[in-house]
Amino acid sequence: MLPEVRAAARTLADAGVASPAHDAEELAAYVLGVPRSRLFGLDALPAPAVERYAALVAERADRVPLQHLTGVAGFRRLELSVGPGVFVPRPETEVLVSWALSVVPACGLVVDLCAGSGAVALALADEAPGLTVHAVELEPHALAWATRNVARTGLAVELHQGDVRDPCVLAGLDGTVDLVTANPPYIPLGAGVEREVAEHDPPAALWGGEDGLDIVRAVERAAARLLRPGGRVAVEHADLQGSSVPALFAGADWTDSTDHPDLVGRPRFTTARRSDR
Ligand SMILES: C[S@@+](CC[C@H](N)C(=O)[O-])C[C@H]1O[C@@H](n2cnc3c(N)ncnc32)[C@H](O)[C@@H]1O
Repeated sequence: MLPEVRAAARTLADAGVASPAHDAEELAAYVLGVPRSRLFGLDALPAPAVERYAALVAERADRVPLQHLTGVAGFRRLELSVGPGVFVPRPETEVLVSWALSVVPACGLVVDLCAGSGAVALALADEAPGLTVHAVELEPHALAWATRNVARTGLAVELHQGDVRDPCVLAGLDGTVDLVTANPPYIPLGAGVEREVAEHDPPAALWGGEDGLDIVRAVERAAARLLRPGGRVAVEHADLQGSSVPALFAGADWTDSTDHPDLVGRPRFTTARRSDR
């Protein structure tokens, strides 16, 4: 490995970065404009790149998210634009997308609530091109990133600025939707989060009130209204909400309330089926 990258990895480890070697390599690849695999054929970082690399490593050591430095986040098959004002999509949400793809009809109607960068909606449109996909986001800054990502990917997702707490949001689709997905803000107020999250993810993407479930409750109400009988919902939650979120989907509007683990086995998302009206 390049000596500069080895040194950067030590700097990042000392700063408490969770994946120091990976991030040091990604930043070097970014500065050189090459895939990470190409780094292994080099003996030293070319001189013009040294200063820029050092500056990026210093920012990462100050816990600026890697994806804000490179401007992109991978999500399933897509590379999405991200930066200040939008939540960086996480790998655990990719599991929710797998489940969604396994249940949605090929030409189904989908609504993604709390869309952020558009990650979930765009991944569904990408991997199931017969779907009609709508995405709802409250925050104008996040919506601007989602708009960039629709343009960047060329995928057909219709974006709407809206509040899931508003009983009229997408009311024209009431009772017709096959699948509702949501990765809402769900962290309880006062819970500890890493510096990258606290200082760089938008507050509206994180905090879900006293028990973390304020917006999850609104998602449950919106999904009950939007879905057709037999339609499905999938909602991501925190690992400590593996009982409380399935319980929100246990009323008369729902059947088959089930919780699912993420890739490392932690409770991560709840699914349910809209009962017959
Ligand atoms: C955890 S982020 C998830 C973003 C994206 N779905 C993803 O998985 O990467 C939650 C998103 O919900 C949005 N949001 C928060 N409250 C909302 C509300 N009441 N109505 C609609 N969107 C909301 C936030 O602005 C943020 O973009």
